[in-house]
Amino acid sequence: MRIDIITAVPQLLESPLNYSIVQRAKDKGLVDIHIHDIREWGKGNYHQVDDYSYGGDAGMVMMVEPVFNLISKLKSERDYDQVIYMTPDGEQFSQKMANTLSCYQNLIILCGHYKGIDHRIREHLITMEITIGDYVLSGGELAAAIVADAVIRLIPGAMSDETSALSDCYQDGLLSAPIYTRPAEFNGWRVPDVLLSGNPKLIAQWQEEQAIERTRQLRPQLLKDLGLE
Ligand code: ADE
Repeated sequence: MRIDIITAVPQLLESPLNYSIVQRAKDKGLVDIHIHDIREWGKGNYHQVDDYSYGGDAGMVMMVEPVFNLISKLKSERDYDQVIYMTPDGEQFSQKMANTLSCYQNLIILCGHYKGIDHRIREHLITMEITIGDYVLSGGELAAAIVADAVIRLIPGAMSDETSALSDCYQDGLLSAPIYTRPAEFNGWRVPDVLLSGNPKLIAQWQEEQAIERTRQLRPQLLKDLGLE
């Protein structure tokens, strides 16, 4: 998979995408992440990428031309499955969306900055708009890092234990069962006996019950979405 991220603040993306599973996936050649500084595509000596908005609202707007030129160049080199714009008014990001995106070959992710981007970019170049939640960030970079992380870890081979993605929260629409590690008792706090039983069938049954119970308590709407309630 190849992900091209377009940003006015590339520094914001450096550390989240250089560690842990994402870095391992890069090392294994499972994903190529290219971060493009939109300023390098800016106009004139000052590499201008933003301008005042028509209509006079306060705040700067990302200009259409630098973004158009960069996306056109990328598209001339390969086909892209989606050109994504990170924006608070996009479609809510979810595990399901991460699964879908992890099956693609080439993605562009455009991070908005300033007050927003010229609407013509959204109308003519963007194929998908994603929000990570109902709050406003200073720019799309942190949101893009979250989407990239959630997607990349699902690429087969990215995780050392491939089955571990299957037990993730939300993967089956439920929250996960509680997990524990050694010691079996600490400070009088005991790991549930069933997990020490060595009986895989009992353990699986307990995990399923716990997953449903935790989901019922913490996120009842998820059970309704699954038709289980
Ligand atoms: N850019 C600013 N806020 C955002 C959000 N909540 N999700 C995605 N991109 C954003």
